[in-house]
Amino acid sequence: MSFSVAIDGPAAAGKGTISKGVAAHFGFAHLDTGLLYRAVGRRVLDGVEPVAAAQALTAEELEQGDLRTAEIAQAASKVAVIPEVRAALVDFQRAFARRSGGAVLDGRDIGTVICPEADVKLFVTASAEVRAERRFLELSAKGSDVTRDQVLADVRERDARDAERSTAPMKPAEDAVLLDTSELSIDDALATAIDIIRQKRPAA
Ligand code: DC
Repeated sequence: MSFSVAIDGPAAAGKGTISKGVAAHFGFAHLDTGLLYRAVGRRVLDGVEPVAAAQALTAEELEQGDLRTAEIAQAASKVAVIPEVRAALVDFQRAFARRSGGAVLDGRDIGTVICPEADVKLFVTASAEVRAERRFLELSAKGSDVTRDQVLADVRERDARDAERSTAPMKPAEDAVLLDTSELSIDDALATAIDIIRQKRPAA
């Protein structure tokens, strides 16, 4: 059986944690599609041309080194505006979504472009201030020397670029369920997501 869940939304809204939790709960495979853009962004920081980097991307590169730095996040958001980069990454994501046993993909354009036929679509969001605070705590815990103001500016800059690009901008699909996590604990957000998916899933 293939069953696909699309989870989109801005940085640090809780999509990653919710996606991992959903995948573990239902036994689905999980793909964090942001890692694809981050891996391309890292190559570009190393001097590779973005489209060539996207076309040569391998699944192994997603596992190598720490892709979750603020510098790579900005580079990812910049390469993600290039239509040929996005096009080079489509087949991999669609094949992943069709896996038997179910798949959850999280990103910005999963419900709108990659899997418009997904069985469940969630758009996970939270205020920019709440998201910046979460990201600040995460980066500080990793020893990064950032300030709250820097992180908030970074979140806003990335939101604007991701939402305003002309190819596959970040936006909720018309049939997506909105999940605002600003006032929710991560456990409550995950429980809400699991409930929504359970209602759409054929009885086992
Ligand atoms: O989810 P993330 O923060 O790891 O994503 C990094 C960047 O990659 C994000 O700012 C925009 C881009 N991205 C995208 O354009 N489409 C996706 N499906 C996932 C990420």
